[in-house]
Amino acid sequence: MLAQRVRNIAPSATLAIDSKAKQLKKEGKDVVIFGAGEPDFNTPENIKQAAIKAIISNQTRYTPIDGIPELKQAVANKLKRENNLDYGISEIIISCGGKHSLYNIAMAVLDKDDEVILPVPYWTSYSEMIKLAEATQIFCKTDERFKLTADIVEQKITEKTKMLILNNPSNPSGAVIEPQEIKKIARLAVENNFYVLSDEVYEHFIYGSDRHISIASLGADIKDLTTVSSSVSKTYAMTGWRIGYAAGNKEIIKAMGNLQSHSTSNPTSIAQWAAVEALNGPQDSVKEMISAFDERRRFMHKRLNEIDGISCIEPEGAFYAFPDISEIGISSTEFAGRLLNEALVAVVPGIVFGSDNHVRLSYATSIHEIERGLDRIEKWVNQKTAAIENEI
Ligand SMILES: Cc1ncc(COP(=O)(O)O)c(C=O)c1O
Repeated sequence: MLAQRVRNIAPSATLAIDSKAKQLKKEGKDVVIFGAGEPDFNTPENIKQAAIKAIISNQTRYTPIDGIPELKQAVANKLKRENNLDYGISEIIISCGGKHSLYNIAMAVLDKDDEVILPVPYWTSYSEMIKLAEATQIFCKTDERFKLTADIVEQKITEKTKMLILNNPSNPSGAVIEPQEIKKIARLAVENNFYVLSDEVYEHFIYGSDRHISIASLGADIKDLTTVSSSVSKTYAMTGWRIGYAAGNKEIIKAMGNLQSHSTSNPTSIAQWAAVEALNGPQDSVKEMISAFDERRRFMHKRLNEIDGISCIEPEGAFYAFPDISEIGISSTEFAGRLLNEALVAVVPGIVFGSDNHVRLSYATSIHEIERGLDRIEKWVNQKTAAIENEI
């Protein structure tokens, strides 16, 4: 009955775990959820007010397909201010969330049999988008700290390489690529003439003294090959508002607009006005959220490493820890499934990110929840290892 195209697509496992956990919660079970890829903070007040104002002033009709000029200008100003990138508004498109921008980029650029270099572990939707575009995924394993290097990329380049996907900082690993490697990767892209899809949705979530570097900012040649994709979802706790954007080569952006014109049309008018305020308004809420996440990050990392059989590399960015659970001797799917059923803690199996030795935990939740969840994981893992030892 179904088209081949959708038969090959797996549903988003992160969303599936999240909804199963929420269902258990509804049934009255006391579940600790580490599955969600969204901040637990509320959208800041000034942004909500901007949306209310948009409704009252009747900003409720169709907008230009590729977004209102005010929002495109706010994105251009943001890219200049924070990333040292110069884009005109014809080089920017507003979409229904970052995911929609990424999908449109894949559809606009990739043809059947084009090769796309995808660093592992990867955010699960990239893989499905590449498949939908009928392109070929070329996986490349990052180093022992999950960092991508130019050497790793170079080994995968062929004549068919059309695109490299960069997700920096990374979901699920939290790794941040070293600046000198970003420069070398940019050189490789220019020398070998392939596109870079730079997903910078977690750019503000970098802990410590490092600052985010957009690969597009490293010169005119690499800028022309790169499409930068981002969104207001994570930075401004606006996951439900569905506003993302992309900036890049005019031709690609125009093709993305054409796709949008026959699929979603414009993103919600009200949410677009809220996003204008998010990008142009005060940025204090971002700093507050990141400092809270930093405390949680350190706490979760420390607690995970105190559990026998689990080891976790310190995540430097995003809001996920990606511990290695392979010593426990079960697959990541079994680990996540049993942990949810037996200890009421939701984590995402690493297999959906290309690594069965790991699970992903989001620390976008309160310290109290992190403590409760990790107490349970520790107890469950200790019982599990004791049971395995008894079997032996
Ligand atoms: C790596 C990455 N890119 C893009 C997105 C898309 O976010 P949104 O569609 O909410 O903007 C997500 C969300 O989880 C993500 O983790």
